Amino acid sequence: MNKHNIWRALLAAGVLSISSLAVGHGDVTPQAVDTQGLDSLGEAWLDENPYREPYEKHDLAVRVGSSAYAQNCARCHGLDAISGGIAPDLRHLEPGLDGDDWYKERVINGAVRNGAVYMPKMAEHMSQEALWAVRTFLETKYIEE
Ligand code: HEC
Repeated sequence: MNKHNIWRALLAAGVLSISSLAVGHGDVTPQAVDTQGLDSLGEAWLDENPYREPYEKHDLAVRVGSSAYAQNCARCHGLDAISGGIAPDLRHLEPGLDGDDWYKERVINGAVRNGAVYMPKMAEHMSQEALWAVRTFLETKYIEE
């Protein structure tokens, strides 16, 4: 290894440790979600869940969302949306447009305070289609607070 390569290796190691520190306990291992069959939504975020009833493939959206939730959200928010206490219980998320707004805010921006990642920016790892499917699944689990 010449000087140049050693420097590069050190730099790479440094960069790696800094990025893993920054991610902290909000570490994300994105899981591929198969959204085939659901309408494609493009890049720009919609304001309202497009897969809500009477969407013709509502049931498909619930199934896709259920598995996407299990793979990407359940480790913090609990299996089947029943929180074990680490993160809010998403069954209480308001249905309809009002809840969509808050849902969208969180999945896009995550929750970061004083540099600590409480919730990662899920939209950086998952498609809009997958995330609205998760929202559709969550609405079937809704219970009043
Ligand atoms: C690393 C853990 C973690 C993962 C993974 C995670 N969340 Fe969260 N989420 C949290 C925490 C912690 C909060 C509370 C944030 C706060 O206190 O501000 C939260 C808050 C939320 C909220 C706001 C709830 C409320 O009542 O205010 C929504 C909506 C949400 N998460 C959706 C999701 C969805 C959907 C996924 C998967 C696509 C997901 N989260 C993945 C930890 C996580």
